[in-house]
Amino acid sequence: MCGLIGIIGKGLDMRKELIEGLEKLEYRGYDSAGIGYVENGQPVTQKTVGQVARLKEKLSSPIKAEMAIAHTRWATNGGVSLENCHPHISEGKTWMIVHNGIIENADELRAELEEKGVHFYGQTDTEVVANLLERTKFVDPIDSIREVLKKIKGSYAIVAINKNYLDRLFIIKNKSPLYFSYDEGSVRVASDTSVFSGKNFISLNDGEFGEINLNNFKLFNKNGKINKKETKLEKTEINRKNNSNYYMIDEIHETIDVFKRINCEYKDLKIFNKFDKLGAFDEIKLIGCGTAYHSCLIGKKYLEEAAMKEINCYIASEFNAEPPKLNKNMLCIFVSQSGETADTLLAVEKARAAGAKTLAITNVPYSTISKKCKAYLPICAGREVGVASTKAYSAQVVIFYMLACHIKGVAPSLKGLISGFKFPDEEKIRELAKKLIKKRELFLIGRGEDYRNMLEAGLKIREISLVNAVALPAGELKHGTLALIDEDAIAIVLQTSQKGMEKVKNTINEISSRGGKVVFVSQFDPPCEVYDSLKLCQVPQKFMPLSSVVTFQLLAFYMTLEKNLNPDKPRNLAKSVTVE
Ligand code: M6R
Repeated sequence: MCGLIGIIGKGLDMRKELIEGLEKLEYRGYDSAGIGYVENGQPVTQKTVGQVARLKEKLSSPIKAEMAIAHTRWATNGGVSLENCHPHISEGKTWMIVHNGIIENADELRAELEEKGVHFYGQTDTEVVANLLERTKFVDPIDSIREVLKKIKGSYAIVAINKNYLDRLFIIKNKSPLYFSYDEGSVRVASDTSVFSGKNFISLNDGEFGEINLNNFKLFNKNGKINKKETKLEKTEINRKNNSNYYMIDEIHETIDVFKRINCEYKDLKIFNKFDKLGAFDEIKLIGCGTAYHSCLIGKKYLEEAAMKEINCYIASEFNAEPPKLNKNMLCIFVSQSGETADTLLAVEKARAAGAKTLAITNVPYSTISKKCKAYLPICAGREVGVASTKAYSAQVVIFYMLACHIKGVAPSLKGLISGFKFPDEEKIRELAKKLIKKRELFLIGRGEDYRNMLEAGLKIREISLVNAVALPAGELKHGTLALIDEDAIAIVLQTSQKGMEKVKNTINEISSRGGKVVFVSQFDPPCEVYDSLKLCQVPQKFMPLSSVVTFQLLAFYMTLEKNLNPDKPRNLAKSVTVE
């Protein structure tokens, strides 16, 4: 949620550096963007509502500063407006800050400050922090930060400039990621390592704060000064092989490379060392949000067969709202592309507190969820930028398969998947997309695993193409939703096993006889007359969810293009949801 960056460097083209940094972070939020620096002893900000591209247009002249901060916002506290756009400056103009996260007690702190006569320009919690820093009146800014940390509650990654110390940035972190990295003659701090070009980076832990300058850094936690080790920066170049305009389509097309990468990485059985050390367990729970949760619904089947146990899946926020009974003989597996999702992280904390064994399946090895769990398995998807998760979903499903093989004690192989996987006919999908966008709603129907995969198809179509696509188990249609079927309705029916062919014929007839149109999606021919059909590539049966999901990802993508919307930046959403 929100992207932030701070830079110190001599001789840099600061305008270019900030804009390029913000462009890389924009997937974290794009409601407004702004930059701040000090000029002639006074803090200056330049801001726009909307995407970084608008800010880029606005910043015509070079920025004459050797230190600056910048932010791209996903609105939480306070609406989408210029006054709420970061950076925020304290009333006395000593502090200028950018912030990710939510200060939970901001309202009461704001009221206290207002009583003392502080005037606020916007509604954000960030402005409250800037003014709290100002009001402490300590000479040493680190003392001010220490004091403010006693007052604020919630999640925050903060980068601040104090106009009296123009050689350093001040940084604070709690429950929202923050990293910094040195490169020749410059240092950058950011909410994401993708903006770094140095060899290593340093990751802050919760409760840590300090200051960084061009040559040095000083970090503290509540017990005093701390030392930090550097982590090697893995360069995760984004594959733009099709030179297309959107990350999402490139990321879908990368799926097959991701399968190959996993196949290769998981040949090394050392990858399971930490998992093996967790020891025996008698129950497994799978937890995630959104697409990551949907991957659990597919992964569950592989693990149930391997562990010969029934497995429950939980949406992380529901797990937190009504936690199941947990104990030390349980294995809780947390799935998250980013490894930073706040709901999932809270679930990790609950599982740890109950003594359960914890395994993270994420795309970011140094992410908070990866670090908080006792064991970690990488999904090897490479950086995913599009807000709609695509290749990461497929990777998560495959990792569940790899883990199931490991639990069973058989060597995992993706041979049949890699050799059989083919992308569907995209022209045909695009033609269908043109018809589907005319509808406000779509019914997505399947049975068993096909139904569970339709839940993911529905999420993808809803989030980017803004068509209300609702997944339904085929057998449930006649128990209520059939009432909605008339000549205007379109249902997409997914059938990936030969076994249910007779039953699917009934489902199609139930819809067609009420005038509804059916699009049949399968590796098989439709069992009766249908409005339209899409052919899936045939891979081993256990991998069919991967064949079908890619088809629906493409359908969602083309529906979005046909509606002239941006598939990479769906409205109201951001890639990494680091607030509960
Ligand atoms: O980073 P995570 O996998 O934990 O994110 C979880 C969800 O926010 C995410 O999968 C979301 O549902 C996607 N935008 C869907 O495409």
